[in-house]
Amino acid sequence: MANLVNICVVFLLTLALGSLGIHAEAKAFFIFGDSLVDNGNNNYLATTARADSPPYGIDYPTHRPTGRFSNGLNIPDIISEKMGWEATLPYLSPELSGEKLLDGANFASAGVGVLNDTGIQFVNIIRIYQQLGYFKEYQQKLRAIIGKEEAQKLVKESLVLITLGGNDFVNNYYLIPYSVRSRQYPLQKYVPFVISEYKKVLQRLYKLGARRVIVTGTGPLGCVPAELAQHSRNGECAEELQKAASLFNPQLVKAIDGLNKNIGSDVFIAANTNQMHMDFITNPQSFGFETSKIACCGQGPYNGLGLCTPLSNLCPNRDLYVFWDPFHPSERANRLIVEQILGGSTSYMYPMNLNTVMAMDSRA
Ligand SMILES: *[C@@H]1O[C@H](CO)[C@@H](O)[C@H](O)[C@H]1NC(C)=O
Repeated sequence: MANLVNICVVFLLTLALGSLGIHAEAKAFFIFGDSLVDNGNNNYLATTARADSPPYGIDYPTHRPTGRFSNGLNIPDIISEKMGWEATLPYLSPELSGEKLLDGANFASAGVGVLNDTGIQFVNIIRIYQQLGYFKEYQQKLRAIIGKEEAQKLVKESLVLITLGGNDFVNNYYLIPYSVRSRQYPLQKYVPFVISEYKKVLQRLYKLGARRVIVTGTGPLGCVPAELAQHSRNGECAEELQKAASLFNPQLVKAIDGLNKNIGSDVFIAANTNQMHMDFITNPQSFGFETSKIACCGQGPYNGLGLCTPLSNLCPNRDLYVFWDPFHPSERANRLIVEQILGGSTSYMYPMNLNTVMAMDSRA
């Protein structure tokens, strides 16, 4: 009964906030992970994993590349926009100082994975434990400005997004035939290994003060144009990578459930980005896309070979493409994903969606 009352209150609050168009009060926003959420940290590093030349950013407000792996905005940008918050700055940006620190920070770095050995080919990237180290360093800077107690409160009340896992398969296990990891583990054993390492990362995040953490699963790894170009005869998704995603995502939800039970609170929220993506891969037309197989920017079959560069094919209307480049969704696809993060049912957002989180936390 108490639960039912709770659910009703949350539901009414969600309605009220939604219908009045009132955004929940400003929260700091922290982002960790890979290229799906990096907003420019790699621009400051000597690495090949970067998106700082045209046509990246062609639909960004400045129409210039920023380091985001998108034609325009990425998922954290759109979450900030929907919440009415300032977009966060990359942690390595020299502009991130003073009052700006209060909005949060983005620690993500293209190419990283859960495992330390994922993405070694990109040389200088911010591996996940270093991202967490920077989060600690950030908190010291914050304390210097607003004091210890306020800094702790800001972190505790913040929203965190973490996106990892895709590279542990694409750029580690399956990068080359007979990779070190694939000789060490069959897929059925590799997945639980990555998950157990991911749990350690999430526990560290909790230790560092995070209390609301959206954890995305991997997308449909075998269906991206890069994989279609290399492993598909008739445009069907690459089987092995699809199998990896289908093993990884449910195990991640289970791990998150276990962590929450141990803590005794719904700190971690699983976002089923795989299903969100599959919806428009299965039926692109019903979402207003012309294709979910061909990348807007690229070359070769499905525009899936190599990188998106100034010399690549470029589609005239990015909104008609699920994929911007051989690996990354277009801004429009990102917008549909964020819609589900905000309001999706429990099969997309477990145990609850972001609108519900915001309603609950503003009541607390
Ligand atoms: C990865 O690196 C971090 C920090 O350097 C270390 O604490 C952790 O044990 C490493 N993980 C593995 C699986 O080696």
